[in-house]
Amino acid sequence: MRRKFVAGNWKMHGSLAENQTRLSQLAKGLSQLKTLDMAVFSTAPYLFQCKSLLAATPVKWGAQNISEHAQGAFTGETSVAMLQDFSCDYVIIGHSERRELFAENDAQVAAKFVQAQTGNITPILCVGESLQQREAGTTVEVISRQIQAVLDVVGIQKFAQAVIAYEPIWAIGTGKTATPQQAQEVHSAIRSLLAKNDQCVAQNMQILYGGSVKPGNAAEIFAQPDVDGALVGGASLNAGDFMEICKAAS
Ligand code: 13P
Repeated sequence: MRRKFVAGNWKMHGSLAENQTRLSQLAKGLSQLKTLDMAVFSTAPYLFQCKSLLAATPVKWGAQNISEHAQGAFTGETSVAMLQDFSCDYVIIGHSERRELFAENDAQVAAKFVQAQTGNITPILCVGESLQQREAGTTVEVISRQIQAVLDVVGIQKFAQAVIAYEPIWAIGTGKTATPQQAQEVHSAIRSLLAKNDQCVAQNMQILYGGSVKPGNAAEIFAQPDVDGALVGGASLNAGDFMEICKAAS
């Protein structure tokens, strides 16, 4: 049985004061939840704060990005060792905002996946199609290519310590959610692609959906057999909304 996993990607939002309020509200609400995996993703400067406020809770934390290099003259980058210093369990890799706004390519995404795992940090590999690609009927092809690019570098067994997030670009921050059927169709295609390589890895893989997940639509998305939770953006900034989404998964 796969556990449900709800992750909050704060993106470039927050401050010491805001985070403090959000994290303490989160910690207070935890007793209402049944078993599920939870994590929040702050920007790098606030990882120390996540560590100090969440260490005594079951909520994990992680970074939104990682360098593909171990160390060196890479101004502005954060290495895996630095994320380890702040006890990150997870790191988001290949978010569409990184791919589109910072021109990250499949090869870099694969290199970041490798780096994360060298430090025992679980990569959450994001994949997703644009509206144009969906309308052209190439969704599954695009997603398969994005996953295959990493598989070719690391091999299927490394996916046993990874999470995949399907985030259709047209649904991110737009208020447009994929229908539960659209999400299920892609999640099932992802699981089939993994199963061709290894049945066990495919069956155990947590595949999260991301894109305008809100308290009002979370339950129907989570009811799909291949949807194992959500990577939540906007709604994760409101502790009450995030807890509602967690409740829908628990
Ligand atoms: P929204 O929930 O704001 O659409 O963002 C989704 C996302 O990009 C999470 O990584």
